[in-house]
Amino acid sequence: MKDGKYIVLGIESSCDDTSAAVTADGRELLSLSISSQIEIHTMYGGVVPEIASRNHLKNINIVIRQAVDEAGIDFHDIDLIGVTCGPGLIGALLVGVSAAKALAYALDRPIAGVHHLHGHISANYIQSPELEPPFIAVVASGGNTDIIDVRGYNDLLLLGQTRDDAAGEAMDKVARVMGIGYPGGPVIDRLSKEGDPHAIEFKRVMLEKGSYDFSFSGLKTQVINYVNHERMVGREIDQKDLAASFQQAVMDVIVTKSLEAAEEYGRDRIALAGGVASNSLLRSMMREACSQKGFQYYRPEPVLCTDNAAMIACAAYYMSEEGLLSDLSLDAYPVLDLDWCRNMQ
Ligand code: KG4
Repeated sequence: MKDGKYIVLGIESSCDDTSAAVTADGRELLSLSISSQIEIHTMYGGVVPEIASRNHLKNINIVIRQAVDEAGIDFHDIDLIGVTCGPGLIGALLVGVSAAKALAYALDRPIAGVHHLHGHISANYIQSPELEPPFIAVVASGGNTDIIDVRGYNDLLLLGQTRDDAAGEAMDKVARVMGIGYPGGPVIDRLSKEGDPHAIEFKRVMLEKGSYDFSFSGLKTQVINYVNHERMVGREIDQKDLAASFQQAVMDVIVTKSLEAAEEYGRDRIALAGGVASNSLLRSMMREACSQKGFQYYRPEPVLCTDNAAMIACAAYYMSEEGLLSDLSLDAYPVLDLDWCRNMQ
């Protein structure tokens, strides 16, 4: 406790960002430290798991120390340690989980193992103090495109997910084919602002009626075929039009399905989460679509969309409210069901 507030230290290391954060009473963010490895992995055009783990090891103590110092607390003020325990790269996860367990042991504090997507959704609680379940969450990142019915702080029902590429993954792969850099999402977002989203008609893959699943690999293939064809016939490709047309096709599907889910499940609030939630078209389309339907629309600021430990600390706080805590036997899980915290007791 510090000044009568419940202090949580969050730790996140599931992919290529090493992060620690401190929150007070769940939603008040006292500090956030993120060490990004993006420059290292850019050389390889994607995240190399072994290199990610080694860099987490180098950075983990630094980001934890930074978060504690910037929050103006002492290690003994920490009431709970929340850590991402899955899903993610196993070597990367193990670094965060081991650090969390070492601290929990040394400080004699409880530990909450947080599902990474539960964390992403919880970023919205930090951003929007008035937001409470139930609502529909749309988590779109490099590894996931999920529509989730958030029934309670720790009660998440997966309504649909991608059957192949995640939205961010498709954007990264298309950017690679276009030769415009990594990660592709932000570059496509920037280029699209000057392109015509209707210049090239790509087919939207909606799958069977009533399904909230996604499929982006067919759209990715349409773009690759278009690029190959234009190169073969010697036509110059307008990168801005291509980026804008592809991006529009991705976001049309995400927005349409999210609204359908909200209507079917009787929710009047939609929250975005994950790295792709920074996308300017997705944000403006979702804002517009929600306002037309009379729904409330929520999204975290970009630093809370990407992987960060603030969202983990926030989720851990709400887990502790329901006694959903782990002990030093907590493990790291490369694959983890979304209802993990419901099944842990
Ligand atoms: O959530 P995140 O930081 O990491 C995980 O995948 O867990 O998401 C990274 C993904 C990448 O695929 C990146 O290209 C995408 O988010 N991304 C974006 C934007 N910023 C990041 N995609 C579209 N538009 C953006 N502005």
